[in-house]
Amino acid sequence: MALTNKVLLIFGTRPEAIKLFPVVHALNAVGGVDVKVLVTAQHRQMLDQVLDIGEVKPDYDLDVMEPNQSLDHLTAKLLTGIGNVLDQEMPDRVVVQGDTATAMVGALAAYYRKIPVSHVEAGLRSYDIYQPWPEEVNRKIIGTIADQHFAPTGVSAAALRAEAVSAEAIHITGNTVIDALYWVQDKIRANSALVSGLCDIEARFLGRKIIGVTTHRRENFGEGMDNIASALEVIAQRDDVGIVFPVHMNPNVRAIMDEKLGNNPRIALLDPLDYPHFSRLLSICHLMLTDSGGVQEEAPALGKPVLVMRETTERPEGVTAGTA
Ligand code: UD1
Ligand code: UDP
Repeated sequence: MALTNKVLLIFGTRPEAIKLFPVVHALNAVGGVDVKVLVTAQHRQMLDQVLDIGEVKPDYDLDVMEPNQSLDHLTAKLLTGIGNVLDQEMPDRVVVQGDTATAMVGALAAYYRKIPVSHVEAGLRSYDIYQPWPEEVNRKIIGTIADQHFAPTGVSAAALRAEAVSAEAIHITGNTVIDALYWVQDKIRANSALVSGLCDIEARFLGRKIIGVTTHRRENFGEGMDNIASALEVIAQRDDVGIVFPVHMNPNVRAIMDEKLGNNPRIALLDPLDYPHFSRLLSICHLMLTDSGGVQEEAPALGKPVLVMRETTERPEGVTAGTA
């Protein structure tokens, strides 16, 4: 097998950046690999927060994000944008992570040029193509294309083997989100000013149980988001809780949460927190309520229980372990 010497990592959203910055660091530490980073900026502000703390300087930035972007428009822009960079760079290998539009299109554009693809966080399955939507199909497409599958757990590795992926192509690695979490916690230990932005809220909710909340899944838009907001209003009737809710920038989430929860004294609605501040929230909370994938992985690592606000999860390990 020929030695790989130019590796292009492609990512575009907050969670991909969090889970790939440790991989960028690790590849940079390996001699003889020419590491290139292409960000699509499918997310803009939420991506930039991570590039900054994760110390990643992209070689390419497609800056594709548009307000309230549709899946088809986003996908079309990603395909031509990524394709142009691949034609220019012709890497020996492409690395994508997870199940976003950027990851799926990155793998597809590489396949169109017969460039091999490594998939980080491979083999997660809910076995329902509409939950989460469109992520379940995105990761199946990537799994069909990839020739290296980095599965976080034995469960995800078994899911790939059941789809006839050869055992030699599957590597059980753990989840890189834990590397990212430990990295940022080391940074906070060295410089506590990195989390000073939460001091006011910690003082406001002193003596109360802090409940952290995040939500953004497309299949929850509309009625699901409305139900989540109503449930939070009920929880906030207790006088022993303080709800800290950094609201995702997707307008389908923000509009409803601002309208229903904006004036509740026991609910702090915040802009998205940068990764140090979010990790501080994970450390101080009593419980997380979330439909996020990454948060289901991080909270148990810090001993915090998670209530998963979904009908199903592709991360059954937490349910089995009793942490989710
Ligand atoms: C995307 C991913 C989802 C992932 C999630 C992580 C797809 C189809 N969806 O969902 O898998 O779990 O990211 O958060 O790939 N916006 C901003 N600034 C930002 C980010 C988003 O303003 O920094 C707003 C924009 O109006 C944008 C909208 O949010 O159009 C939606 O962004 P998009 O990436 O399409 O979808 P997400 O719901 O964020
Ligand atoms: N996160 C963050 N700030 C926030 C909310 C979440 O840094 O205000 C981090 C969180 O620690 C996790 C990741 O973002 O690593 C999860 O991203 P998101 O929920 O948007 O996407 P998902 O994991 O569901 O794809």
